[in-house]
Amino acid sequence: MNNFDYKNPTKIIFGKGEISKIAIEIPENSKVLMLYGGGSIKKNGIYEQVVDALNGFDFVEFGGIPANPEYDILMDALAVIKEQKIDFLLAVGGGSVIDGTKFLSSAALFEGDHPWDILDKKIPTQKGMPFGTVLTLPATGSEMNSGAVITRKETKEKLVMGGPGLFPVFSILDPSVVASIPERQVANGLADSFTHVLEQYMTYPIEANLQDRFAESILQTIIEVAPKILKDPSDYKAAANFMWSCTMALNGLIQKGVPTDWAIHMMGHELTALYGIDHARTLAILAGSHYTYNFETKKAKLAQYAERVWNITEGTIDEKAKAGIQKTVEFFHSIGIQTKLSEYTSEYEGTGKEVARRLAERGMTGLGEHGRLAPEDAERIVEKAY
Ligand code: NZQ
Ligand code: ZN
Repeated sequence: MNNFDYKNPTKIIFGKGEISKIAIEIPENSKVLMLYGGGSIKKNGIYEQVVDALNGFDFVEFGGIPANPEYDILMDALAVIKEQKIDFLLAVGGGSVIDGTKFLSSAALFEGDHPWDILDKKIPTQKGMPFGTVLTLPATGSEMNSGAVITRKETKEKLVMGGPGLFPVFSILDPSVVASIPERQVANGLADSFTHVLEQYMTYPIEANLQDRFAESILQTIIEVAPKILKDPSDYKAAANFMWSCTMALNGLIQKGVPTDWAIHMMGHELTALYGIDHARTLAILAGSHYTYNFETKKAKLAQYAERVWNITEGTIDEKAKAGIQKTVEFFHSIGIQTKLSEYTSEYEGTGKEVARRLAERGMTGLGEHGRLAPEDAERIVEKAY
C-alpha cells in the first residue's frame, strides 16, 4: 500500500426527514445564499422543506444553475454574494448545483481579477466561503469531496477545480428525494458512481486488500440496487443504498494508498464540452474502449473484478479480464445507457483527434495510473468508442 494522508471534514446527516437539521448546522447570524437548479425542487417539496428550515435566518435565493454548471450564470450569483454580503452558501441540488456552489465558495474569497483563472490556471482552493449541501440527486459524490467541474459554453470548455478548502461543512442526505428523480437521471447516477469506483480500482494490484474490497462492495451494491431503483425510485430501502454508495464511491476513502486512473473522466469531460452528452453517459461510452485499449496493463485487476464482482470463476486471466469488460458494457446497457458515441451524435468523425488536441493544449499529456497515456492514445481510445 502507498503512503497516504486522509482527512474528510464533511459532516454527513443521513436519513428521512433530516433536511430540517440545516438550522442547527448553519452558524447563527449567517447571511445565507440558497442556490438551486432549474426548478425540480419546487415540484417535489424539497424547496418548502429547506425554506422552512431556514426560518429565522437572513437568506437570499439564487435559482437557475443549469446541469453542467455554467460560468456566466455563476458570475451572476457571485455578484449577489458581493452585493448582499453573503457569508454562508447552501447548495440544494445534484452535482451541478453543488459544484457551482464550490466555484462560488472559491471565487468569493479569490483575490485575483478573473475567477476563471481558478480553473484555467489550476489554482487550488486552500480556503473557501463555508457552505453546506442538501443533496437531491445521488451520483457525483460532490456532497462529500472537494472537487468541482465547471463549464464555459462560450469556449466549449469543461474544467476541474478543487482544494482542501472546498469540502462542504455538512451535507444532508435524505434518500426520500430520490422518489422524484426521472429515470434518465437515476441511470446517470448509477453509471457515474459505478465508474467512479472503477477509476480508483481498475489499475494494477498492490495488495491494498481493504481498499479493493471497499471498491468491490460498492460495485456489488450498485449492481444489486440498480434494477430496484430504476423500477421504483420511491423504494426507500433501495434509495438509501443507492445514495450512500454514490457518496462512498467518491469521498476520497477508496483511493487512499492505491494508484488511480481517471483517464475516462478526463476524456469524457471533453465529450460533454463538445456535444453536451450527459456526464455519466460519456463515461459509459469510453469505459469498454479504455479497458480494451489498456488490456495488458489492467488485466490482472480486470480479472479480479470479473471474479469477485461478477462471479466469473472459469477461464484464464485473459478470458476473465475480457469477460469483466463485457459485463461492464452489459451493465450500462441493462440500465438503459448506450455505449457508442455514434448513438449520441452523427457528427462523431474526427472526435478522437479533437479530444487529443484539447488534452494536449491543457497539458494533459500523461493520463492514466502510469501517466503514460499520450493524447495520441486518447485519440485511439475515443475512436474505438465510435
Ligand atoms: O436543475 P433541476 O431542475 O434541479 O433538475 C436537475 C437536473 O436537470 C435534476 N434533478 C436533480 N435532483 C432531482 C432532479 N429532478 C427531480 N428530482 C430530484 N430530486 O437532475 C438533472 C441533473 O442534475 P445534475 O446536478 O446536473 O446531475 P449530477 O448530479 O449527475 O451532476 C452532474 C455534474 O457533476 C459533475 C459532472 O461533470 C456534471 O457537471 N461531476 C462532479 C464531480 C464532483 N464534484 O466530484 C465528479 C463527477 O465525476 C462529475 O464530473
Ligand atoms: Zn463522474
